[in-house]
Amino acid sequence: MEIIEAIKSRKSIRGYKPTPVPKEILTEILEVATRAPSNINRQPWEFTILGGKVLDDLKQALQEQFLAGVEPDRDFPVKPLTGVYRKRQVEVGIALYQLMGIAREDKEKRNQWWLKQLRAFDAPNAIIVSVDEEINDLWALFDLGAVSQTIALAAVNFGLGTCIQGALVDYPKVVRQITGIPESKKLAIGIAIGYPDWDFPANELKSTRESLANIVTWQGI
Ligand SMILES: Cc1cc2nc3c(=O)[nH]c(=O)nc-3n(C[C@H](O)[C@H](O)[C@H](O)COP(=O)(O)O)c2cc1C
Repeated sequence: MEIIEAIKSRKSIRGYKPTPVPKEILTEILEVATRAPSNINRQPWEFTILGGKVLDDLKQALQEQFLAGVEPDRDFPVKPLTGVYRKRQVEVGIALYQLMGIAREDKEKRNQWWLKQLRAFDAPNAIIVSVDEEINDLWALFDLGAVSQTIALAAVNFGLGTCIQGALVDYPKVVRQITGIPESKKLAIGIAIGYPDWDFPANELKSTRESLANIVTWQGI
């Protein structure tokens, strides 16, 4: 598949078929993805690949945290968004909810959607991307982003969909309890992966992008 075509066809997938991804394919995707660049080739990424009962247990435990009203306690906390960033977040949220038929004031449906989110959108497999606490600096997180996007692109080649999900690392304690990832490894992000259910409404979403005119400054060209 042409690289431009793969980049353009990748999008976040939020509805999956239950068929597990064969281990050989997951391995090949990770082999390819680790060709991603990293600061002085430190390759700070580590992957925990989940499926079967372990992933089912994790999905269950994450949902229980949410239902019990536990506040997220991420290894890498993020600030609430403001301004144009908040505007973009709201825009994509509204588009998703519209496709899913979730009204803004419908708390029950919103909760159900969040529970689905914590079930990795019912994907049969998920990847937790972590980094050793010794090197969790800016460059390392940059490298983790590069490898995550490469995973998402390589997945397209195999007819797979992905959703990079901060929500999967909202409750690191629970993730550690179930996966055995030690405290010394900081959880950066989760990635849901599986075969897309193209009949699932949220998968119709084509997220927008800011026009280049608003984000590019040309000089000397
Ligand atoms: C660091 C990061 C965290 C994300 N966390 C979530 C998440 O928790 N839940 C979710 O549905 N999508 C999540 N996404 C997916 C974004 O919403 C998505 O990439 C964005 O809306 C653009 O849409 P696209 O991926 O379909 O092009 C995340 C993406 C990134 C890069």
